[in-house]
Amino acid sequence: MPETTSHADDHPRTVITFGTFDVFHVGHLRVIERAAALGDRLVVGVSADALNLRKKGREPVFSQAERLAIVAALKPVDEVFVEESLELKREYIAQYAADVLVMGDDWAGRFDELGDACEVVYLPRTPAISTTALIEKISGTS
Ligand code: CTP
Repeated sequence: MPETTSHADDHPRTVITFGTFDVFHVGHLRVIERAAALGDRLVVGVSADALNLRKKGREPVFSQAERLAIVAALKPVDEVFVEESLELKREYIAQYAADVLVMGDDWAGRFDELGDACEVVYLPRTPAISTTALIEKISGTS
């Protein structure tokens, strides 16, 4: 008869990540795919319009409802929610029972203090693409 084993690592690993994901591009897709590959379930916090305005000093092109719908429709994404504040990462990690926090390496070191709540992983950004650069290119300002 096969031996049944049970250990702490058996529970599904939940990964959480955050972003604005405005004017969705391949850099966004790659970070979502790589985040999903680190666990069994991917939860994505999509920045609220008001947070984006505070954080980046401009209104997003697409509303939070549209950005949420786009991210929620991606195959690797299991759940989405609106990130209301940058200061609530610890609360969101607890609320979604996240085992891993994934951030782009533009934030490297900035979330190490959350290492007592979950594993913290910084992924390298996809080179040469960003929402800001795309907006500038499309609007002819670059
Ligand atoms: N990201 C990435 N590679 C890129 C652009 C973004 O891996 N070339 C990642 C970020 O590190 C973050 C997520 O995608 O984890 C969402 O980033 P966001 O700020 O929404 O996208 P940007 O294109 O960086 O937007 P902006 O130019 O407005 O700062």
